[in-house]
Parts: sequence; C-alpha cells; structure tokens
Amino acid sequence: MKKTLFLGIDVGTTGLKALLVDETGKVIDQATEEYPLLAPRPLWLEQNPADWWSAAVKALRLISGRQKLRGNLLSIGLTGQMHGSVFLDREGKVLRPAILWCDQRTGAEVKEIERLVGKKRINQITGNPVFTGFTAPKILWLRKNEPGAYRKIAKILLPKDYLRYKLTGEFASEVTDNSGTSLFDVEIRKWSPEILQKLQIKQDWLAPVFESPDITGKVTVEAAGLTGLPEGLPVAAGAGDQAASGCGNGVVSQGIISATLGTSGVVFAFSDKVLKDSAGRIHTMCHAVPGTWHLMAVSLSSGGSLRWFRDNFCREEISEAKIKHKDPYEIMTAAAAKISVGSEGLLFLPYLTGERTPHANPLARAVFFGATGRHTKPHFIRAVLEGVTFGLRDGMEIMKELGLPIRQVRVSGGGARSDLWCQIMADIFRKELVRTENPDTTALGSAILAAAGVNYFKSVPEACRRMVRTKEVFRPNKKESKIYNQVYEIFQKLYPAAAPFFDATAKIKL
Ligand code: XUL
Repeated sequence: MKKTLFLGIDVGTTGLKALLVDETGKVIDQATEEYPLLAPRPLWLEQNPADWWSAAVKALRLISGRQKLRGNLLSIGLTGQMHGSVFLDREGKVLRPAILWCDQRTGAEVKEIERLVGKKRINQITGNPVFTGFTAPKILWLRKNEPGAYRKIAKILLPKDYLRYKLTGEFASEVTDNSGTSLFDVEIRKWSPEILQKLQIKQDWLAPVFESPDITGKVTVEAAGLTGLPEGLPVAAGAGDQAASGCGNGVVSQGIISATLGTSGVVFAFSDKVLKDSAGRIHTMCHAVPGTWHLMAVSLSSGGSLRWFRDNFCREEISEAKIKHKDPYEIMTAAAAKISVGSEGLLFLPYLTGERTPHANPLARAVFFGATGRHTKPHFIRAVLEGVTFGLRDGMEIMKELGLPIRQVRVSGGGARSDLWCQIMADIFRKELVRTENPDTTALGSAILAAAGVNYFKSVPEACRRMVRTKEVFRPNKKESKIYNQVYEIFQKLYPAAAPFFDATAKIKL
C-alpha cells in the first residue's frame, strides 16, 4: 500500500536522530546514533563533522533497511545544534573539528567584535548580543590562533548545512540557523554586508540563504548508495534546532508559545514582526515560517536543576525507584506534590551554571532562600520545580513587555512528563498549558518543513496543524496563581540583591 512519509534529521550535540513520520505526524520509525563530544582544552568543545556524517549514514541505513522508502518518502528536512562552525577548504574538506555552540574560548573575540561593529549596532542588526558560542567570534579566533587553517577557508557552514552538503553536494543555508551567527541581518533576512565588511569576512565563504521550507537540492547518487535513501529525493532547507522545535510544538501563529524543559529550558514565541529587545535580554531570530520571526528566552539549568538535585540528594528515591521499576523523578515529584504551593516560603534561583536569559551572567549561581527548620527534602524538590518555572516566567515577562500576546503555552521535553510540574507551570504562567504528543519536537519540526517544502501542505502553519498532535490540557487555578504571583515578586528581587555577591565569590580563591 502506498504511504506518505517525511524524514527529519537532527544533528544534535550528543547524537543524530532520524525520524520517519507519516502525513499525520505519526512516528513510523526512528534511529539514533551517538558521537563523542571532544573537550581538547578547558572551555573548548568540538566535534568531528565526519562523525555526524557517519552517524547519519548508519541511522539512515537502519531506517532504509526496515522501511520501503522508494515511492513513499517524499522529502527530507534538516535540523541541528545551532552556532557550530564547520570550516571547509576549496575541495570541500573539513579544515579542523567544528567549534560548537557551547564552546567558550572566544571571550576576547566577542569584545573585539563589539569594538569593531559597536555593541548597540550588532544588537540592532542581528537581534542579539554576540555570545561566545556564536559563529562570528569563532572565525576571528581562527584568524588569530590557527592562521594556517584560516588561509585555506573556502566555506563556513553550520552543522546541519554540512550534512546537506554531504547529502546533496550543495552549499545552502537558511534564515533561522543563520540568525545565530552574529553575521546575519534578521530584519532583511540576508547576510549583513556591514558586519562582513567590518570584520573582513568574505561573503562567498557563506552559503546562499533560503527560507526553511525551500528545497535546496536532491540526494546524490553517491549519498543514496551510502544511506539507502532514494536518489533524487528533495531536501528542504530546514531550521536550527530551536526554530524546528517551535514548528514541532505548533508555535507558528501569534498567541501560542512553547516551553521546552530539557537540561536547559527554552521559552519560544512566534512573532509576525521583528521585535528586538534593546537591552539584549532575549533572542530575536528569523522563524521557519517564511517572513516571520521568533523570540526566545534560554534558561541554562531547568531540567538540569532537578537532575542535579536527584543525583546529589536523592539516593533513597533512586533506590526505591529501582525496586518499584519506576523513574526516580516520579518518586521525587510525588513527594513534592504533598507540599503546599510556594514550598512554605522556600525559594530557589536556578542559576547552577550561570544564566543566559534574562541576566546574561556566567557568574550567577543557584540560591536556596528562606529555609527554616520546618523544611524537608520534598520542600526542596518542590522549590526547585517552582524556581525553574519562575526563571522561565522571566523570559515570558520580557516577551509581554515587547508587546507579544500569550494565550497558550505548549510544553515538551523531559520535564513536561510530570503532571505536577505542568500544573505548577500553568499556575505560575497563569496560562492554559497543552502537552504535545511527540517528544522529538525538533526532528518532527524538520519533517514538517520537508512536507511543506514539497507542497504536500500549502504552508508551514498548515503542515503544523495537520502533523502536531496535542494531548492533555492543564488550566491555571485562581487561588494558586495568586499565591505564586506574590512569590514571583520576591523571586524577581532576589537576583539583583544577590548579584554583587556572585562576583565577589568568584574573586575568592576557593
Ligand atoms: C540555541 C542554542 C542551543 C543549541 C544546541 O541558541 O544555543 O539550542 O542550538 O542545541
């Protein structure tokens, strides 16, 4: 029987995922292949693009071995970790390992870019301050530190665009991922001639720009032979992991935003106009729906805070979970559910690894505030859930300040599995919360773009309406929301009060 299939490929940080779905978004098959994260020096984080490609070949061979793709699979969409820099020479050979989004080596180059372009100007053009993990400072770093490799540069690609090159032989990029390079004008959706000229970066090193659902090439004979994919299969431009995940959550119209609770927590909103925060507290980037944008707030330790608490303070819960064949988080959240709203005055600032939104402070640290002799471990667990959620609300408040309406929040990621956490989010955000069915919103989003790309659906929003499946709805409770509002006021005042002491502590040799 003839089927209609779309494939999403996600070049993640820990591994590559290939997700095969049908036209309703139902998962038909999937394969994941891991690869190493290289840390050759403190603050350096790299990966070999060859590892991404061999992971793709393995995952795609698995799927093409199990499924009949020829005649059924209509297109592929690509997504992946943003900001990673792949440097290629004239022959298309990789010049050095890719420098990743989480790499922190470029502190000096960020300062240099701010000086050359102007701190305000860079925010005006790119919609964001320059971050150490973004692409532009890495190019300057290479120029200074590895001039031999720098002299040979012919192309600079983002991770998923390297995969595209291997699959189709084409150099192409798209607006969402390019928004995280510090070289892209998000308003006109083009590489910025002004920044390129001021940083002396050649425009022809960068790939031609497409919108996310555009078809950028076809699977070559060689790639088809290696992967088992049908030759000539159209490959859509795709999107950076966040914009793709936005599509996988159905955040493609005004009023719906998403909160994704992985290690980090991301609040992501659609906007039909370019809204930029002049203070640079929040990201503004192009969205995967052509001609639109998205705002994004990133909390660095969301699910990560709960995992830290589990690993360090919940040995008993871990053992109990083993005996009962349960997830330790289930035991922890069941205990936290018995504690009253607001954890009897115990508050948690979730800055275990510094913070991006809204404080942009790598020196920020986590704080438990208000402990008394009455507080027990379940209070601390609940305080972590609440504190992380207040941190996400900070991002939402900036979005509201910029004039963005928020009607509904779609939740996904590991943290969204907990009913308790979902209810806490509904009460703290004071919004209707909807859980989405497919946890792989990123890979699903790229498959959605593939479907829109071959005009199976007339637009990206239409493809989302047909392919994103939603599950339970959580509604805010009036009484709880009122209490949380009062606690949030204190939460907001704690960071500025503690901030000078983060700096002071960092100066002590401990
Ligand atoms: C986005 C960001 C991460 C990376 C890795 O700004 O830093 O989402 O794309 O997933």
